[in-house]
Amino acid sequence: MSRSVTVRVPAKVNVQLTVGGPRPDGFHDLANVFLAVGLYDEVTVSPAETLRVTASGPGTDRIPLDATNLAARAAVALAERRGIAPGVHIHIAKDIPVAGGMAGGSADAAGALLACDTLWGTGTSRSELLALCAELGSDVPFSLIGGAALGRGRGELLTPLEVGGAFHWVFAVADDGLSTPDVYRECDRLRGAAVIPAPEAAPVLLEALRTGDTTALAGALTNDLQPAALSLRPALRATLATGTDAGALAAIVSGSGPTCAFLAKDASAADAVGAALIASGTCRTARTAAAPAHGAVVVPPSR
Ligand code: C5P
Repeated sequence: MSRSVTVRVPAKVNVQLTVGGPRPDGFHDLANVFLAVGLYDEVTVSPAETLRVTASGPGTDRIPLDATNLAARAAVALAERRGIAPGVHIHIAKDIPVAGGMAGGSADAAGALLACDTLWGTGTSRSELLALCAELGSDVPFSLIGGAALGRGRGELLTPLEVGGAFHWVFAVADDGLSTPDVYRECDRLRGAAVIPAPEAAPVLLEALRTGDTTALAGALTNDLQPAALSLRPALRATLATGTDAGALAAIVSGSGPTCAFLAKDASAADAVGAALIASGTCRTARTAAAPAHGAVVVPPSR
């Protein structure tokens, strides 16, 4: 048995996040078009007496290192399923913004699941891994598969989507996170008694992804959680405006925020938008990343 296993797992941006009304279970039905982007966390697991979590990288002072960490819960869930003890040290090398609406916690859970399955030699099937992911959180299955996918239900029922080209993104990272449940609650509050139609994927957006058409994708980006994120964090309006003023084709809050995502014409336009965002002081930092990115993969030990 190898002594440690590392899995690399990507962040996501939602190119469409259409939110239905609240369900009896407290979740919302979604039409959620996920796109994996090239910012990665690396999750390394190695045998240990007891379950232990450590983390390195920006923002890790804000993630729990106890059994409530989603990566720890992933290891426990798999160990329980296989009837073994979850004796494992999980180290998370973070590069995905923490609590940023980019599925960083979900990425770590998917990474820990694949890493533990590999370390323990438990040979869990892809479909069982996906079911375990869905138990851990709505965005976790997508972190495992990567690429692009339409998520139905609460986002966990995935249909992979074709992507016909590369898209160049800039992400403006905020100082503090936003709580996803708070943002959904604010979305419901802002909607009041309005009748909310069943969420549907937009054909024009799926076609833009399929053909790799950046301009068409820019015109089709939507996020129903954006008004709620802006209501809770009004300063994000200035961040969004800075990116569009600097030449981004479109600006959108990423998922539940507060990270703002900007779609650029090409890699050099993305660099210019990133530089303008950093110079503006409207965000903590800005990162460029291309999409689509691969899902969770085991890093070969010999690199
Ligand atoms: O599934 P996950 O644990 O990531 O969800 C976090 C929270 O986000 C939920 O507890 C719920 O408040 C909200 N949520 C929702 N509808 C979804 C996904 C998440 O209301 N489809």
